[in-house]
Amino acid sequence: MASVLPPPIESQVPISATKILINNRWMPSVSGKTFATINPATGEEICQVAEADAADVDKAVSAARAAFERGPWRRMAASERGRLLHRLADLIEAHTEELARLESLDNGKPVSVARAVDVAATVGCYRYFAGWADKVQGKTIPIDGDFFCYTRLEPVGVVGQIIPWNFPMLMQAWKLAPALATGNTVVMKPAEQTPLSALRVGELIAEAGFPDGVVNLLPGYGPTAGAAIAGHMDVDKVAFTGSTEVGHLIMEAAARSNLKRVTLELGGKSPNIVFADTDLDEAVEGAHFGLFFNHGQCCCAGSRVFVEERIYDQFVEKSSARARRRTVGDPFDPTTEQGPQVDEAQFEKVLGYIESGRQEGAKLVCGGDRVGSRGYFVQPTVFADVNDEMKIAREEIFGPVMSIIPFKTLDEVVDRANRTTYGLAAAVWTRDIQKAHAIANSVRAGTVWVNCYNVLDTRAPFGGFKQSGIGRELGEYGLQQYTEVKTVTVKL
Ligand code: NAI
Ligand code: MG
Repeated sequence: MASVLPPPIESQVPISATKILINNRWMPSVSGKTFATINPATGEEICQVAEADAADVDKAVSAARAAFERGPWRRMAASERGRLLHRLADLIEAHTEELARLESLDNGKPVSVARAVDVAATVGCYRYFAGWADKVQGKTIPIDGDFFCYTRLEPVGVVGQIIPWNFPMLMQAWKLAPALATGNTVVMKPAEQTPLSALRVGELIAEAGFPDGVVNLLPGYGPTAGAAIAGHMDVDKVAFTGSTEVGHLIMEAAARSNLKRVTLELGGKSPNIVFADTDLDEAVEGAHFGLFFNHGQCCCAGSRVFVEERIYDQFVEKSSARARRRTVGDPFDPTTEQGPQVDEAQFEKVLGYIESGRQEGAKLVCGGDRVGSRGYFVQPTVFADVNDEMKIAREEIFGPVMSIIPFKTLDEVVDRANRTTYGLAAAVWTRDIQKAHAIANSVRAGTVWVNCYNVLDTRAPFGGFKQSGIGRELGEYGLQQYTEVKTVTVKL
């Protein structure tokens, strides 16, 4: 495992946007307060960022409301909204290297991943929804009597969006692109751990020529700025990605204020089911990627690896060998597979779960400790002999900790896979088409992967059953969450 060195000079990136964006203008917070954003590879401050609170949210909501009701945005041709989104995608693509470095610096993910996954998928997401802008169509409906009845899909209005830190720029795109394609205006709060890429994209939004007040960006904390968005009387919808715990708070705030529409993309404890008939090496690599990608900081991480008894020991041996080979270190080193966890709180939380796994009697087969003595690096960790009642098998760890759990039969594993409050994703590894479909049809989750993992695409819906969320993002289903249906009936 590589030792953790101070970041090299190539990691330095120019930082131009650190303030609040309202009406296409950059401004300090009303309170004048700022907060530090930290480089998780070193624990040191990168820079100070303006700290938005309720007063700034009020200003941003007024700007978004004015832009929605009176600005050029609603009168603009739908195709022109699409053209603006395409221009933004082109600008992001042209700044790939800079944005990848900024993401890596602020979040800790390897710059190679930021480039190939985060920036590339962000560009793809804006392009996909740009194409939808002039294809959002209603229906004509043959109602009884002498009437002409049709539907219009109108924007919901002013949309509040609260995003997390695991894929900062990509989560911004998942939220902004469908909202803008359908003609909403937006008040967005990036995560306090990772505000920088969202703000830099804010500069590119202004450069692309979006009208004033259409996109407003408010860096700040959840219980202050975030809560002010969720509880605001003049916000028509709130879209949130983050913890299930805060998801409950968002829904309560919506219920207590103005019944704003709520979409939630929350946590998971996704089962990854490996049958003995599968290609073992492919399944080992797939399970490794399914759990350790992005340092385990994925809502859909395959964190309960159920393995059929007959191949259990072999699978544990191969999986731990693979985890031991995983390169952990400087995010700016091109050979790094895993950088630091995003912040000290997450780092401590992950180490706490590792400790609980040990105490509850799971068998630690590799990892189990931090890497180096500075920054928030955690060893790729594998536990075997995990049972369903252990905390590490029930709660979302959001770190590089794999739990491998034995099973005997299909019916049994379906039952155990579903014994969770979550339902975001699942996967199955088998050569038997009937087993594959049996799992796909009976596991209660928004996404099921067969012989693959983490295949997310802008065109395919993503979201959760049960407490993993409400609504879907991406694809046509994602688009629908940003429109209201209006029925128009004309007497003939
Ligand atoms: P969090 O849910 O607190 O934060 C996500 C976003 O919500 C951030 O922008 C935060 O500022 C905001 N927020 C926090 N409290 C809020 C409130 N009262 N009102 C409105 N907005 C609020 O998640 P956190 O603390 O960063 O991570 C805790 C755990 O949540 C992680 O360990 C992981 O298990 C899970 N998580 C899941 C994510 C996902 O992709 N579904 C992403 C991030 C975290
Ligand atoms: Mg939090």
